[in-house]
Amino acid sequence: MPSKVSCLYVLTVVCWASALWYLSVSRPSTSYVGQLTIPIRKTPKLQKNTTFSNIRTRSLNPHDFGYLINEAKKCEAEAPFLVILISTTHKEFDARQAIRETWGDESTFADVRVVTLFLLGRNTDAVLNQMVEQESQIFHDIVVEDFIDSYHNLTLKTLMGMRWVATFCPKAQYILKTDSDIFVNMENLIYNLLKPTTKPRRRYFTGYVINGGPIRDMRSKWYMPRDLYPESKYPPFCSGTGYVFSADVAELIYKTSLHTRLLHLEDVYVGVCLRKLGIHPFQNSGFNHWKMAYSLCRYRRVVTVHQISPEEMHRIWNDMTSKKHLKC
Ligand SMILES: *[C@@H]1O[C@H](CO)[C@@H](O)[C@H](O)[C@H]1NC(C)=O
Ligand SMILES: *[C@@H]1O[C@H](CO)[C@@H](O)[C@H](O)[C@H]1NC(C)=O
Repeated sequence: MPSKVSCLYVLTVVCWASALWYLSVSRPSTSYVGQLTIPIRKTPKLQKNTTFSNIRTRSLNPHDFGYLINEAKKCEAEAPFLVILISTTHKEFDARQAIRETWGDESTFADVRVVTLFLLGRNTDAVLNQMVEQESQIFHDIVVEDFIDSYHNLTLKTLMGMRWVATFCPKAQYILKTDSDIFVNMENLIYNLLKPTTKPRRRYFTGYVINGGPIRDMRSKWYMPRDLYPESKYPPFCSGTGYVFSADVAELIYKTSLHTRLLHLEDVYVGVCLRKLGIHPFQNSGFNHWKMAYSLCRYRRVVTVHQISPEEMHRIWNDMTSKKHLKC
C-alpha cells in the first residue's frame, strides 16, 4: 500500500514537472519563464530522491544476514592501504594457510598496511563450522555471515565483503577481491599498479575485463537462465578470479545490490551493478584468468594467476622471494 501511494505521488510530480517544462519551452525567455524554471530545475532532484527511497522500501536483496564471526576492529587502529577479501569454503584449510604464509601475509610490507580477510557463509555441517571457528580464534582473519555457503550463493559472499568494507573499513584505499586458488604478485599490485605515493583514485575498478554474453546451455557452469537475465550481452565485467577497486566502490556496489536482482554469477553481477553506477572497469593485462606455468620472469610481470594449489603457492613464493636480486 505505501509504495502504491508513493508511486502515485511520483507520477503526480512527473506530470507536474512536464507540464511546467511544456510551458517553459513554449514560451521564450521572459522574466516570467525565468521564474518558472526554478521549480523545474528542482523537480528532477526531488523525483530521483522519491523514486530512490521508494525502491529502497521495496529492497530486492535486503542482505541483512547477521555475522557469525566478525573482525570488526581490524581497521580501527589505522586505515589500511589495501584490504584483501578472499572468497573461500570451509574445507580449504590448506589454501587459507598457504595464503597466510605467502602473499596474504599482512606483515610483508613495512610501509604499506595490508589487511587480509577470508569470507565464508554458514556450512550445513556443524563440525566444519566449529573448525573454522577455532581457526578464526587463532588467526583472526575470518568473517562469516549467516547464509548457506554454496556455489550458488557466491554473490552473497562478494556482497558480504563489500558490506564489511563499507561498515568496518570505509577509510581503506583499495580492495582486492580474489579466490583461494589465486597467486597474487603483491609487489606488482601495490607498487606498480596502486602506487601508495600517488593520489588515491575514486570510482576505480580494474581486472581481467570480459565482454561476453549469457551462456544458455544448462550443462555449463556459467549457465544463465533467460528469465533471470534476458539481455543477450553482459555489461563489461572483471573475472571473479581477481579484481581491484577503490574502497568507495564497495559501498556503492553494496547499496546498488539492495535494489538489483541477484544473479548467481558474482562477477557478472558486480558488472551489472557497475553499469548502474556508470563505472567502467579497466582492462589490465596483469590479471590472468587462466593458469600460467611458473617462471620467475613471467610471474614478476603478473598481478594474479589462477588455479594455484597450496603447494605451488609455497614453491612460487619461496622462489620469488629468494631470487629478488636476480634480473630478468
Ligand atoms: C532523500 O531521501 C532520503 C531517504 O528517504 C532522505 O534521508 C533525504 O533527506 C532525502 N533528500 C532530499 C534532498 O530530499
Ligand atoms: C543461499 O543462502 C540463503 C540464506 O541462507 C538460503 O536460503 C539459500 O537456500 C541459499 N541458496 C543456495 C542455492 O544454497
